[in-house]
Parts: sequence; C-alpha cells; structure tokens
Amino acid sequence: MWTHIPILAPQIADLLLVNPQGMYVDGTLGLGGHTKLFLSRLGPQARILGFDKDPNALQMAQERVKDPRLVAIHASYVRAPQELAARHISQVDGALFDLGLSSYQVDDPARGFSLVHNGPLDMRFDPTQPLSAKEIVNTWGLDELTCIFKEYGEEHRAAQVAHAILTARHTQPLETTFDLKRVAETALGPQRGRVHPATQIFQALRIACNEELTNVSRVAEVLTHIIKPGGRGAVLTFHSLEDRLIKNSFKALAASGQWRLVNKHTIVPSYEEIRQNSRARSAKLRVIERI
Ligand SMILES: C[S@@+](CC[C@H](N)C(=O)[O-])C[C@H]1O[C@@H](n2cnc3c(N)ncnc32)[C@H](O)[C@@H]1O
Repeated sequence: MWTHIPILAPQIADLLLVNPQGMYVDGTLGLGGHTKLFLSRLGPQARILGFDKDPNALQMAQERVKDPRLVAIHASYVRAPQELAARHISQVDGALFDLGLSSYQVDDPARGFSLVHNGPLDMRFDPTQPLSAKEIVNTWGLDELTCIFKEYGEEHRAAQVAHAILTARHTQPLETTFDLKRVAETALGPQRGRVHPATQIFQALRIACNEELTNVSRVAEVLTHIIKPGGRGAVLTFHSLEDRLIKNSFKALAASGQWRLVNKHTIVPSYEEIRQNSRARSAKLRVIERI
C-alpha cells in the first residue's frame, strides 16, 4: 500500500478554496491527498479536475478519493487550458501545483527514482513517454550531461561525474539505479554524511527526464489562462530552482496589476509537520490571486 502525506494541506485549503461550489484544478493529483481534503470542504456542486502525468497515480487517486466530483485527467498540467476547453470549461476558481514527485514514486523501486532501492534506471513520471533516465545517461554527450548536472543538480563536480559515466558506459550500458550510484561514487567518493553524494545527480536526471523546470516556468502562463478574477493559484516547491522560477513569475504577474501576491513571504510547514513528514522540510508555498 503506497503512501504520500499531503503537505500544508489545511493551510492550502484555507487559502485556495474561495468558492465552496466552485471548480478547481489539482495540477499534480498524485495520490489525491490534497484533493481529498479539498472535496471534504467543498459543496455538492464543486468539481476538481485532477491532472497527473502518471497513470498509476491517477488510478490510485480515484480509488482513494472515490468521489464523483473528481475528474482525473492523464496529461501534464501545462495542457490544462486545452483540457479545460475540451470540456467546455473556460475558467476555474483555483489551481494547486504540488511540484516534483510523490513518496510513492520514490518508494517504488520499479520507477527508478531511488538511491536506496535498486531498480531500472527509469525516472519517468509518465511511463508512456519515450525518454527515460537510462536513455539520457547512455546516449547524451559529455557537455549535455555536465550541463544538466550543473544546472539541475547544482553539482560542482558535474564534469567529473559526466566523464565517469562516459567511461563506464564505454564498457557496458548503465541499466540500474545502483549502476549509476556506483559510477557517481567513483567521481564523488563514497557516502560519508547523511546525504548520499549522488543525490544531486539523481535530482538532475529526474528534472531533465521529465522537463520539470520547463513545465514549472509555464505555471504562471497556465494560471493566466485558467483562473477567474477573484480566483487563486497555489504552488508548493521543494528546491531553490523551482522556487526561484515561481517567485519571479509571480512577481511579474503582480507587476502587471492584474494579480496580487496573497502571501509576501513563503509559507513553510511547522516544526511539528516536518517532524511527522521529513519530505515537508524543504517545502515552500506561494499563493497568488487574480484581481
Ligand atoms: C508531490 S506529488 C503530488 C501529491 C499530491 N498533492 C497528494 O497529496 O497526493 C506530484 C505529482 O505530480 C505529478 N507531476 C509532476 N509533473 C507533472 C506535470 N507536469 N503535469 C502533471 N503531473 C505532474 C507526479 O507524477 C506526481 O504524481
């Protein structure tokens, strides 16, 4: 039984659900934790359109939420304007984007996200997309690999890791998460502290494989298409690269005079929430309202 604990869920519900009978988008449905709480606070006429790139997550969310007011959609949240138009919906009252991956995806070795469990080097949110982490590490050139490790992993020794990968794959393709972990260790050394040295390399590959930052940079544009006046957008980020993109794009929306920042400073989980759910420790929430 896979789990994922929704982060800052009551706080997000308080800030996002401006209309009890309204229509909402959950751009990253995952296992439906946020959506389930939202529906418990919304009326019978309300609807939530839940997007996810991962069809397994969508199926599990539907089983867990079990509510006809949830419409599950297998698509990237960047396609929300088109998916809404296809359902004759022009605008909604609110949208949530809980970025990154869910605990269930990390914990399932078959998905290839984990440094702890060995599994195929996959890392796709959407298993129907052709590009996987395995393809990236076995076919991309030295410069491309160095670039993603530096930009998406903020790894100082990006070139050394890229070089080690090219040397290793010359003998045999890298097939599993542990193959990559071992090769990264040849460049970065073994684990000494709490965090494994290959953590940033894994993060970089995941971001590249799923075009995460390209998608994050389009959240503001999606909001301008789908949010009604008086409606709100909420974004939960988990690392500085995501948060910088959201902070700057929200600033630009506010500067247009048509949006206002609901919280000037990011909202972060309490000490108690972090104690119960370690994944909450790096979470930051930003909320914006269309005037
Ligand atoms: C942090 S989890 C969401 C957890 C969810 N809020 C809950 O409470 O269960 C993020 C989810 O977003 C999905 N995802 C990531 N990027 C996406 C995108 N561009 N479009 C749609 N879903 C995406 C992932 O597959 C994952 O299931």
